[in-house]
Amino acid sequence: MIEIFQTIAYALWFILPAYVANGTPVVAGGGSPMDCGKEFLDGRRLLGDGKTFRGFILGLIGGTIIGLLQSNLMIGFTLAVGALFGDILGSFAKRRVRLSKGDPVPGLDQLDFVVGALLLVSLIQIPSWEKIIIILILTPLIHLSTNIIGYKLGFKSEPY
Ligand code: CTP
Ligand code: MG
Repeated sequence: MIEIFQTIAYALWFILPAYVANGTPVVAGGGSPMDCGKEFLDGRRLLGDGKTFRGFILGLIGGTIIGLLQSNLMIGFTLAVGALFGDILGSFAKRRVRLSKGDPVPGLDQLDFVVGALLLVSLIQIPSWEKIIIILILTPLIHLSTNIIGYKLGFKSEPY
């Protein structure tokens, strides 16, 4: 029983830089959008106003600092970059199916960043399958509960 909790704790500790990279922009992001207001071939925004330079930079710094504190700078940095690009890819996909910034896509909204982080970090260290499964199951639950808190505190305009 104790081992299960330990495995879960290790998995969450491992993915923490990705969580911080994804969460920092929500409280500290904003400003100029990364797509500079540009449209894709379909006439819709490339990424939308929800992906900003400040959010990206601060998320990258936040996630990397966690990696540094965990004595694993390279893993932290890689998880942060992967998370931020996963999230960007999610927004790119949402814009292509004509969804506006903030429109919900259950599953994608909660997992894009963590899948990006796991894929990129696998280039330097492939996480165990237990870690991957725990992360994929728990992230949507953690994402939803922290988003509800962020919404109540006024950081997010939608509770998801
Ligand atoms: N954010 C940011 N820069 C980023 C990522 C996020 O500034 N690179 C901020 C934005 O203020 C954004 C908020 O964090 O509105 C929440 O991020 P997210 O849920 O990923 O974006 P959405 O606003 O829901 O937009 P989208 O529909 O594109 O997912
Ligand atoms: Mg969103």
